[in-house]
Amino acid sequence: MSFKKDFIWGAAAASYQIEGAWNEDGKGMSIWDHFTEKNGAVYQGHTGKIACDHYHRYKEDVAIMKELGLQSYRFSISWPRILPSGTGKISEKGLDFYSRLVDELLAADIIPFPTLFHWDYPYELYCRGGWLNPAASDWFAEYTSAVVDKIGDRVDRWFTLNEPQVFIEMGHMTGEHAPGVKLQLRDRVRMIHNVLLSHGKAVQVLREKGKENTKIGMAPVCGVVIPADDSEKSIKAAREHMFSSYTEESFNAWSNSWWLDPVFFGKYPEESLKHLGKYLPEGWVDDMATIARPLDFLGNNHYHGSYVTANEEGKAVHKSPVTGEPVTGFNWRITPEGIYWGSKFLFERYKKPIIITENGLSNKDWVSLDGKVHDPQRIDFTHRYLKEYKKAAEEGVELLGYFHWSIMDNFEWAAGYRERFGMVHVDYATQKRTIKDSGYWYRDVIKSHGENL
Ligand code: NOJ
Repeated sequence: MSFKKDFIWGAAAASYQIEGAWNEDGKGMSIWDHFTEKNGAVYQGHTGKIACDHYHRYKEDVAIMKELGLQSYRFSISWPRILPSGTGKISEKGLDFYSRLVDELLAADIIPFPTLFHWDYPYELYCRGGWLNPAASDWFAEYTSAVVDKIGDRVDRWFTLNEPQVFIEMGHMTGEHAPGVKLQLRDRVRMIHNVLLSHGKAVQVLREKGKENTKIGMAPVCGVVIPADDSEKSIKAAREHMFSSYTEESFNAWSNSWWLDPVFFGKYPEESLKHLGKYLPEGWVDDMATIARPLDFLGNNHYHGSYVTANEEGKAVHKSPVTGEPVTGFNWRITPEGIYWGSKFLFERYKKPIIITENGLSNKDWVSLDGKVHDPQRIDFTHRYLKEYKKAAEEGVELLGYFHWSIMDNFEWAAGYRERFGMVHVDYATQKRTIKDSGYWYRDVIKSHGENL
């Protein structure tokens, strides 16, 4: 068997992207509720107010997951649904929703795998400085505590943060995502530190209050660098480039070592620290032990990577895309080898089992005259990536699972409902769900435990 026996096959989604019910049962406003009100912020003014109405239709959605044979479902919890003001008063009704969802999943034999934070930050906390506030990590710990108190008796696998790189950089640098601000590097470096500390404190709370065998990881998006050929030189250049150091100018969202070295090694990478350390908040050194609380696995949301070769000095040189090469609906490159090299390089460096927490593509899918949704491109894409993932498993990279993004079409942030990522089609006017061909194909993959790939 290529994939280990306990490897799990799943699919993922996130609260703001599917739930809707944006102001029901006492839910507070999130920065995404706020951001989508802004003219021009989101494609055609779309919002997540109704989305897939999953808040009311979760039973139907879990039944579909069961039909597809999913072994696990990665969902996220909406912080302002639990704590409408971000801290203080807890909404029992909000907690009840996730408790019912967990029960429904368990009854269907599907492992609930929640992510504590997938971008819908409480608006009230944003007004108090958000992630820049020195209390940010305590707020996150308080929220985590409310969640684990409610569902921690039945849930034993967690992710803390989803793609922190993206909510910092797109939310606070380019302003394309909520809260839509453009901060300086000084602020962002401080913010990242507070986000990392929030992660660490959440791990602490989950370990203290969760079940004995609780397993925890993070779900970052790691920039993946792929050697364009099999030569040792290219492989070495790609590996080094994936974890290279940063100056003020070169620092960006995909700075793997800046985000992950603190989590796994308890320190910021030395070379980069020389340039960026001056922006860290006072007393940061004392936080490092909390940030580095031991984890059980490392997630990676993987969509595409970039190819490099080595120059004379062995340094990575980017290879430009070939004219006319296939791309997804989002115009993202299709780079199946990235899931192999990314998993391998991350496993080598951090020595933790890898879980692909997201992988998939957007496509122009619709319901055909025959009433079905034919999406051969999604099948081909996923097949290619999974073959490469399998190769990593066969070569001894420790892999714990694969979550397809997404279980169903949903609100794709600034692109609104334009991009469809689901294995289940959603007609937003009627909320009718139709399993796409890829969903049935994935069901067979799960059935054969990947042996048919
Ligand atoms: C990563 C994000 O976590 C998810 O929310 C998003 O929909 C997918 N990428 C596709 O862009």
